[in-house]
Amino acid sequence: MTANLAIIILAAGQGTRMKSRIPKVLHPIGGRPLVGHVLTTAARLEAQHIEVVVRHERDQVVTALSKDYPDAVFIDQDDVPGTGRAVQVAIDALPGDFDGDVLVLSGDVPLLEVETLRRLIDGHRSAAAAATLLSARLDDPTGYGRVIRDDAGTVQRIVEQKDASTDEAAVTEINAGVYVFRAPELRTYLSRVGQDNAQGEMYLTTVIELLRGADQTVAAELAEDTASTFGINDRVQLAEAGRVLNDRIVRRWQREGVTVIDPATTWIDDDANLSPDVTILPNTHILRATAIAPGAIVGPDTTLVDCEVGEDAIVRRTDATLAVIGAGATVGPFSFLRPGTVLGANGKIGAYVETKNAEIGEGSKVPHLSYVGDATIGRGVNLGASTITANYDDVHKHRTEIGDEVHTGSHTVLVAPVRLGAGAKTAAGAVVRKDVPAGALAMSVAPQRNIEGWVEKNRAGTGAADAASRENSAE
Ligand code: UD1
Ligand code: CA
Repeated sequence: MTANLAIIILAAGQGTRMKSRIPKVLHPIGGRPLVGHVLTTAARLEAQHIEVVVRHERDQVVTALSKDYPDAVFIDQDDVPGTGRAVQVAIDALPGDFDGDVLVLSGDVPLLEVETLRRLIDGHRSAAAAATLLSARLDDPTGYGRVIRDDAGTVQRIVEQKDASTDEAAVTEINAGVYVFRAPELRTYLSRVGQDNAQGEMYLTTVIELLRGADQTVAAELAEDTASTFGINDRVQLAEAGRVLNDRIVRRWQREGVTVIDPATTWIDDDANLSPDVTILPNTHILRATAIAPGAIVGPDTTLVDCEVGEDAIVRRTDATLAVIGAGATVGPFSFLRPGTVLGANGKIGAYVETKNAEIGEGSKVPHLSYVGDATIGRGVNLGASTITANYDDVHKHRTEIGDEVHTGSHTVLVAPVRLGAGAKTAAGAVVRKDVPAGALAMSVAPQRNIEGWVEKNRAGTGAADAASRENSAE
């Protein structure tokens, strides 16, 4: 718990430079909106208050965040624009007697780590500063506010790019948009901030020069890891931040014992959970809350969304969502597992197979070219190549139930609702419309009739007719 701390997260801006229907702060990296990363980090400080300032598409932002961050309080900014106004409406919503520190975070600065924030707060408190800002030195400071110091190195003010003189624009120390303020001073000086600048906005950064003008202490903490201060204003920066975050996540799992063959083409969401001795092959996306047990091999060319992969399972060239893959099972290549697929231990879903709402028992196999939907399949079952559950009669979906040890012939069509008893078999090409009792063989195909000489008579002169004649006369 960080005592006497309120956190204000700025998320009211439109993010014009994204050119998007979606508010900037909701654009995701690592499977989570930008502002979600900020909230996740903020939550770890256990402050008394967490406020998120919203305005642009406020309902969309509130809906996207309130489930995952129930402690956050949403504050509506009015039509006075600017980061200063955003902080002002938030601080006005705090209890009037709150006299602790206010940590201000930007919803578009997603890569900050909690250690950096702790250092910022500790430094601020030990310096007894009225304000402490986080700064960074960048080779290319374009777009950021610049930190202007006097000859003694004391912070004087922050100048926005759009308001900067040529000399000021040449400064490479930037304002990360992350600050700690003492609440009473913040209240006082915010009320004196005007809108006299290139953008006609109430800049939060103006508070810094007002504090300095009143001889208050303003400190700056230089971030060691410049990537952590990365602010996202457009889609180029969005992709860059996504890459930085992914590199961090991949490295974290590598240190936990995961082999990642090609970090550059492996994408792992923040919420995913991997285990020691998992191997990830190139071009693989491990998304959302996917969990992978020890020894599993996943990839190449695989996307898993909210899946569970069991111990020592092998999943290659597969696209799966909300699927559970049992221990020792194999999936792929070219398999499509849709939500509700549960493959038992040591089971198999093979090449060109699509599954949905299908429970496939232990050791059961769907090896080739099948569609299995709305089905419950027992143990030790083998569905012959191209077995299909016809689950949809054009109006309703129906279930197929298959008992233990059932084997179906190639190209069986199981017209649901239908049940195959334990140990039953179907002949190749069977169209099964009626339940099959345990141990029965179901056949639905008319006996085969050969019309001899048909090709030579009806297709004379073709390659087929010539080949047939040669074979027939050789006999
Ligand atoms: C801001 C800082 C700049 C700093 C940069 C760091 C100001 C005036 N400038 O510039 O010094 O280098 O961040 O990334 O503060 N927002 C609101 N209400 C508003 C306007 C913005 O809540 O009226 C929110 C935005 O949603 C965003 C954050 O504040 O999350 C920053 O706003 P943005 O417009 O991106 O500021 P920058 O121009 O990047
Ligand atoms: Ca910004």
